[in-house]
Order: sequence, then C-alpha cells, then structure tokens
Amino acid sequence: MYSKIALLATLLAAAEARFNQEQAVAPLIQALSSFGQPGQAATLAGASPGVLLAGANACAKLQLADKIVAELGNDTQVIAVAQKVVAAEKNFNPFAVSIPSICSDATLPATAELRGIVPLVDPAVTGSDVENANSAKSLTAPFSADGLSVAEVMIAQGFSNFTLQGLDGSTSAAAAGAANSAGAAAGTDVAATTTAAAAAAATTAATSCGGGTITVTASAAAAAATAATAATAATAATAATATEAAAAAGTGAAGADNANGVQQSTIQGLDFGLCVPTMKFEAGLDGRPDTEFTFQAIDPLVNKGQEEALNPNIITNRICDQLTNVCEANQAAKDACTAAKAQIQALGTKDVTTADAWNTALGFAGTNTNPDNAPQPGLVGHT
Ligand SMILES: *[C@@H]1O[C@H](CO)[C@@H](O)[C@H](O)[C@H]1NC(C)=O
Ligand SMILES: *[C@@H]1O[C@H](CO)[C@@H](O)[C@H](O)[C@H]1NC(C)=O
Repeated sequence: MYSKIALLATLLAAAEARFNQEQAVAPLIQALSSFGQPGQAATLAGASPGVLLAGANACAKLQLADKIVAELGNDTQVIAVAQKVVAAEKNFNPFAVSIPSICSDATLPATAELRGIVPLVDPAVTGSDVENANSAKSLTAPFSADGLSVAEVMIAQGFSNFTLQGLDGSTSAAAAGAANSAGAAAGTDVAATTTAAAAAAATTAATSCGGGTITVTASAAAAAATAATAATAATAATAATATEAAAAAGTGAAGADNANGVQQSTIQGLDFGLCVPTMKFEAGLDGRPDTEFTFQAIDPLVNKGQEEALNPNIITNRICDQLTNVCEANQAAKDACTAAKAQIQALGTKDVTTADAWNTALGFAGTNTNPDNAPQPGLVGHT
C-alpha cells in the first residue's frame, strides 16, 4: 500500500506528466512557419495543446492533423509533423478513468499519408508497452487502415485497453469495437470499464489509504463527453494543504471554481490560486485610440500596477510574476506559465490569436478576449 507521501508524489507526477504531453507537438508545428500563409503554422501550433487535453474529443487531434496538411501543404516536412500529431499521446484524467479514449471514426484522419498511424498511450496503462511499440513502428511503416478507425487499427494490432469515442462524443468500450471490427481482436481480453466504475474505483483508492480531512473532487474533464458524469468526491488521505491536494487531484471540469471560488484551469494539476491568468486583446485601453489594440491581463488582481502593452510578452511575463507575488498559485501552474510564456514568444504574433493561444495553453480556452466590449474595428488576426 502507498504511504501518504508516496501517494501524493505519484499524483503530482501524474499531473505533471499529463501537462507535458499537451505541449509535445506545438513546437514542431510552430517550426513549419515557412509553409502556408504567414501565421497559419503558429495558429495551428496554438491549437495543438487544446486537442491533447483530457477534455478534448479523441477525434479532434486527427482533425487538426488533417488541417495541418490542408493549410500547410503536403511537403514531406509537413506530413512528418502531422503524422506526429496523429501519434501524439492524448491526456486522460487518471482520477476519473484508468484508460485513454481513442477516436472510432473511420473517416479520420482523411489524409492518406496520415492513415495507419496509431498513438502513444500513457505508460501507466496495462498493455501500453505493446501500443507504444506499435506507435513508433507505425510512423515508419503505417499499418493497414482501409476502412478502419484509429481505434480499430489499434485493436487489430493487439491493444484494446481503451474507450472508443466518436466524433459526436459518444463512447463505447473497446469490447464492442472489437466485436464490430471483423473479429480483429477475437479472444482479446478487452476492457469494459465504465466511466462510473472507474470513478468509483478512484474514490475507493483514495479513501482506503487512511483517515484524512481534505475533500477533493475528481475531475470529470476526461469524461466530459460521456453522459455518465465521473465527478465524485474523494477523500485524500494526506496532511497536505487543501490547495496541494486539489492540485494533485486535478480538480474541476471546465469552468468550475477552485477552492478559492476562482475559475479553475481545465488542465489537471494547475491551480492558479486567487487568480485567473487570462489575457485580453482590446482597443482603446488606457485612453489609447479605439483603433489601437493592446494586451492586458483580465484579472484585476493580476493586472494591478501593470500598464497594458503592445508587446504580449510584457503581459505574459507580468502574469507569471503575479502567480508568485499575489496569486498563491501552485508550482505546476507556475511551470505551465513559464512554458506558455515561451510558447507566446515563439509564436511572435501580436493579435487576438496570441491571446487565444495563451488562454488555451493555461486551460482557459474560449476566454472572451474583449470582456469590456471595446470597439473592434478591423480586428487584426480575425480570419
Ligand atoms: C501534393 O499536392 C499537390 C498539389 O495539391 C499534388 O499535385 C501532389 O500530387 C501532391 N503530392 C503528393 C505526394 O501527394
Ligand atoms: C487496462 O489498464 C488499466 C490501467 O492500467 C488496468 O487497470 C486494467 O486492468 C487494464 N485492462 C485490461 C483488460 O488489460
């Protein structure tokens, strides 16, 4: 049995490992800036962490891979990066489910060069050694994929410990998929774990480790698309602070509040404490003409004492500083901020997509970047 400390360490390590996976392909896409229209590669790069988040549909990253080729062309360099997007590991929330979700739509990816490639899965999942070897192999020698979804290709190659997810969000256990896929996995011991059962197991695991005083909520982000909600209260047996426990457990589905009653990141493990670290891009701030757009942190606690700026890097820097100065953010949130800061610098853009990329990178995708309803004459960056 885990000691309390070991359990917490494991939870933190898991949360951090997930975060890094989201960032895995953004720099590769960013590096394709000589292909397509100016800014297209950067925008695609900015969209990539979002499709690898636990809450994203399993098919979204395949659509992004198709879009990369559609917008940047079919040069071998572009194809190689798009293939890596197909092969990238997508997060899942280990406190809600124990296995990944894989796209079951046979039409995706549509690009011929991207078919037959299978993704990496978390090394903690039983059978991942087989799958991760298959994934590496598929990048050099794609598997036969005629009429098959990525999920079915995986089953045919001997890995079925996952949940199938359609483009519409509907899910089914791999057992059903295996039966449907021409006997591909006959005799395979497939998973039939339901989300609810997994969530219940997670609760049990947490509570069986001894008496504790801290209540945390397991995130339903991984299962957001399933009808069965996995949100469940779990008692964390640890003497850590509520903030640490909450961070470790990756609390909060999209838009939920953290222990401070502040909107929570959708990324597991990130707790921004008293602050929401989002950025806006508005015209007319601080008496500028209403044709001049600048960046500023949205949260008054974060932007206090900071002038708005034409250079987004000034604002990202300030936001990251404030996480330590006033926000009481956890280390994972600070690390994520540092990574996002580098991402924005690498993007080099100065428009609304910059603010969107920042907000997405920190788990606040879809944030209104014009919360003050400033005029938006010919807003640069809107496509
Ligand atoms: C790449 O795209 C061009 C133009 O769309 C097409 O003519 C060409 O055949 C494609 N090359 C490959 C290898 O698919
Ligand atoms: C699938 O992986 C999970 C997590 O490692 C494990 O608990 C479960 O037993 C595995 N199921 C099968 C059928 O291998």
